[in-house]
Amino acid sequence: MRVSRLLSLFVVQALLGVSLATSSKKFEVTLSLDGQTSIVESDSVAVYHPKKGKYPVLFVGNDGSAETGGFRLWDLYGGKKSSPKELAAFKTGRSKLVEIVYSVGDDEEDYVVTLSMQDGIIRLYEIEGKEGKLKYAKEADKSVRGDFSALCTWRSKETGYQYIYVMGKRWVYGYIVREKSDKRRRKSDKLEIVETQEFALPVEPNSCTVTDGKVFFGGANGKLYSFPAADSTAIPKITDIGEPAGGDEINGLKSYHGKDNTYLLVGIEDAIEVFDVKKLDKSIGTIKFADEELELNGFAVYQRGSKAHPDGTLVYAGENDSGAFFGTSSLTPLFKSPSKLKANTKYDPRDCINKHAKPKKCSGLSDCNGYGFCPKDSRSKKATCDCFPGFAGSTCNKITCPDNCSSPSQGTCTGPNTCTCKAPWTGEKCATLAVPAHYETEESGGADGDDPAIWIHPTDRTKSRIITTVKSEVGSGLGVYDLTGKRTGGVTGGEPNNVDILYGVNIGGRKVDLTVAACRADNTICMYEITPAGDLIEIAGGVQQLPKEVEDLEDGYDVYGSCVYHSPKTGAYHIFINSKSSLYLQFELTVQNGVLSTKLVRHFYAGNKGQVEGCVVDDPNSALILGEEPYGLWSYPAEPDATAVGTLIDNTVIDGGKLHADVEGVTLVYGKTKKDGYIIVSCQGYSEYNIYKRTAPYDYVMSFTIPNNNEKSVDRVTNTDGVTAVGANLGKEWPYGMVVVHDDVNEAPDGSARSSATFKILSLEDILGNKAVEKLGLLGGVNPDWDPRK
Ligand SMILES: *[C@@H]1O[C@H](CO)[C@@H](O)[C@H](O)[C@H]1NC(C)=O
Ligand SMILES: *[C@@H]1O[C@H](CO)[C@@H](O)[C@H](O)[C@H]1NC(C)=O
Repeated sequence: MRVSRLLSLFVVQALLGVSLATSSKKFEVTLSLDGQTSIVESDSVAVYHPKKGKYPVLFVGNDGSAETGGFRLWDLYGGKKSSPKELAAFKTGRSKLVEIVYSVGDDEEDYVVTLSMQDGIIRLYEIEGKEGKLKYAKEADKSVRGDFSALCTWRSKETGYQYIYVMGKRWVYGYIVREKSDKRRRKSDKLEIVETQEFALPVEPNSCTVTDGKVFFGGANGKLYSFPAADSTAIPKITDIGEPAGGDEINGLKSYHGKDNTYLLVGIEDAIEVFDVKKLDKSIGTIKFADEELELNGFAVYQRGSKAHPDGTLVYAGENDSGAFFGTSSLTPLFKSPSKLKANTKYDPRDCINKHAKPKKCSGLSDCNGYGFCPKDSRSKKATCDCFPGFAGSTCNKITCPDNCSSPSQGTCTGPNTCTCKAPWTGEKCATLAVPAHYETEESGGADGDDPAIWIHPTDRTKSRIITTVKSEVGSGLGVYDLTGKRTGGVTGGEPNNVDILYGVNIGGRKVDLTVAACRADNTICMYEITPAGDLIEIAGGVQQLPKEVEDLEDGYDVYGSCVYHSPKTGAYHIFINSKSSLYLQFELTVQNGVLSTKLVRHFYAGNKGQVEGCVVDDPNSALILGEEPYGLWSYPAEPDATAVGTLIDNTVIDGGKLHADVEGVTLVYGKTKKDGYIIVSCQGYSEYNIYKRTAPYDYVMSFTIPNNNEKSVDRVTNTDGVTAVGANLGKEWPYGMVVVHDDVNEAPDGSARSSATFKILSLEDILGNKAVEKLGLLGGVNPDWDPRK
């Protein structure tokens, strides 16, 4: 009976929903570009609503470039014709993220928050509104691990805590900003950032925003999600709201605070969809841009307006063929018919703040020592505090660390989730070996390097070469270097992504070595001949278009990662190409009348269809080892007639696997038998490399990272991408071979960033034969006589 009544109620509601939906018409408005900044690598922006008074309206935008990276400050209407005027640039390191927090501490100061990809530090800058200046609150610096993609802020009405949420590759960290207190709990005017929460997310968000007590986030899969913003350490329920923009990638999220309603603004590539935050099932309108070439990234709203823009201003990170910039548009068209929206130019973000809000006293539990939330039943005898990460005990009086910092031999727990490690151990659990590089390659001439390969010379191994890719438009191509990183040659163009080497391909009776890559500039497979001297030259058939059938498999297939396979069963040469959609294409490489030719022989979607890129093939074992960036490392049979069923080697799930997203480069070290040897995989967010046994059950062996080598002036590796290794004796300095890795930001000795990417060169003996892991006897798994031509 009850069930059927509920059911009929549901049907009625569903019908009502439909009739409402068809009766309300969507509006569409077009904004013109009214002002713009100079060219800057823009992704996100935050507008500052000044305290009442004649202060300038400021906005901050990120600068994502390697050389000048950080963020910049503009006076929104301070330039000619009310366009922005740049006031200052802050080189805090390549960054994508900026936000504002309002009314922190007893003095209710406002701050800019930014997070640098280069050093992973959250920084706060006090806004000295009257002068339009920022003052660095260095004491508040907080280190975050991982690769971050979204930042949003919120202030709790109950506790008055000002929160910062940092989201990355499928996780979120919550922090509070507060005034530091001394031992006797007297507040000072110095700030601190304290972590309160961490948990996994179903996607990697591009953007987040907090409004109406909810944290909204969305990303590449076009879905919008939310969870309640709360003073709690508990993992909240995450709600899947659906696809507000019909499945298009969500690039930006912000809200507009109307007089009665709040509107959620969802930014996609070329528009912003407008929703009433209480009815998220249907967009009420669309904001478009007069410039049809414009690609929209993050955006922000200034609600109060100015003479030039009486109904407020939209500020956004935009990009067209000329480059990226921040643009401004008057919001007036949004408030003209037919939208029925009313401008709220009296908006002040401080109005929704309860100035008397204070964290609940918890006297029976020593106020949780300042490192936890007071439980609801704090008077009960059994009550215990809800402790922040890194704190434990009924009153949060104990400090804890992951794996107790691999104590006692590798480190000790010296702070909440803070380990002090014994060299050469490092990392969040002191379980990662720090192994400095011997050399770095000379600068490549391009900002975005990606992947290296090592070509072994047929007769004199000391003359072997390192081959690297630059995928950015400027400086794109393959670089060739000797084993100490000196550039010996290269080719330009093509925007190759990953590079691999095929040995001894028979071309008209000649045995030829080839570099193989996927070139993104023209969506081809691109190959060069490697001469016996290690130079790259063009070869007939070296550029292979994708066959027509690929379009049928996937509309608009864009090549991305690649790797090669020489079958021990048939002697055939194969090339694997993938796209971000995870569709793998397997081609057989043949030679016809001395010209290279390819034929599609297999295709399959890899892993869980998360983004893929890096891969390597274990030839003797016919195993394709591939990374699924957000999720894990997989092994697939490499023969074209095999069923494409993958075996999971390891995953990135928090507390479940040992990998960290993004899972990027994959490479192999061969052993004396088909069972010996290792897989090495790079984890971009942590700039760490995990090593596994080469064959099932793929036991985890160890991980390492690459710190500064001050003696040799070779800087550390950050935001690493591709990796390659050979376990073959390459001469005196490399008795067990070499590892070469991509370094995103090449830091000069003074800590500033260089514009061109480099690759770092390490000895495999320093890693596997390190004294700290000597007892594992790992070098026994390497075959220094390994010869890729045998
Ligand atoms: C890019 O946008 C700016 C600002 O609207 C404009 O001045 C420029 O002409 C545009 N370039 C192209 C190639 O569309
Ligand atoms: C952690 O290690 C320390 C020594 O470094 C030891 O005193 C302590 O008992 C350990 N804690 C736990 C929870 O195992």
